[in-house]
Amino acid sequence: MMQPEGPAPAPNSIEVVDLKKRYGHGPEATMALRGVTFQVKGGEFISISGPSGSGKSTLLNMIGALDRPTSGKIFLDGTDISKLSSVDLARMRNTKIGFVFQDFNLISRMSTVENVELPLSIAGVRQSERRERAMALLERFGIAGKADRSPRELSGGQRQRVAVARALASDPSIILADEPTGNLDSENAKLTMDFLEKLSTDFEKTLVVITHDWDVATRAQRVVMMRDGGVERIVEN
Ligand SMILES: Nc1ncnc2c1ncn2[C@@H]1O[C@H](COP(=O)(O)OP(=O)(O)OP(=O)(O)O)[C@@H](O)[C@H]1O
Ligand SMILES: [Mg+2]
Repeated sequence: MMQPEGPAPAPNSIEVVDLKKRYGHGPEATMALRGVTFQVKGGEFISISGPSGSGKSTLLNMIGALDRPTSGKIFLDGTDISKLSSVDLARMRNTKIGFVFQDFNLISRMSTVENVELPLSIAGVRQSERRERAMALLERFGIAGKADRSPRELSGGQRQRVAVARALASDPSIILADEPTGNLDSENAKLTMDFLEKLSTDFEKTLVVITHDWDVATRAQRVVMMRDGGVERIVEN
């Protein structure tokens, strides 16, 4: 029998191979990614840094299966997600990946606890279990007292903790964060990063954080420096 080359892929690993993304067509087209290659081991914490427009969010959206590349490959746990059907891609996204965004992306007409429950609703988890899991997460982040409030009534730091709790609700193995501290003061930025970092150190989740903030970037094991749609260099911390 034929054996696949090399060792089996580590769980929760990410491998990006010659990834290209073009937005639009013809003279209006933008080459947002021009061939990006790098690997992230399972449980590793890496950051992505670089100038505005260098392709960081585009790259993260591809890894998180929010959008499809123009060419190249993305392996999650050794599965090439660029080959998956839309249904399988959505399933991969909902079960394996948690997202945290700069502007929190919380829904203000829902309560805090309902926001955290959202990924579980999508996954079809029943109401009582959903509530229990969401409340346990809010406890862990010290905001259970705000469960019934609208996110509008929370501080920026509290909102980001709700967003991190929501990202963790479906117990994903890969956490992708796009400027998670961009709208926070330095104290809340540090707190949020402490929570995120713990996911990799204590729970072996793979963590990819886009940041402009060098203090945040250097907390990671490696920093992928992007420029003009490519990897300029990778800095080991
Ligand atoms: N949906 C889109 N349609 C067309 N062009 C896009 C789209 N999204 C991004 N781009 C372009 O692709 C390039 C990379 O954008 P991207 O958002 O990935 O940059 P970024 O590194 O995340 O920047 P920032 O630090 O400002 O968030 C930019 O030139 C941008 O204008
Ligand atoms: Mg961006």
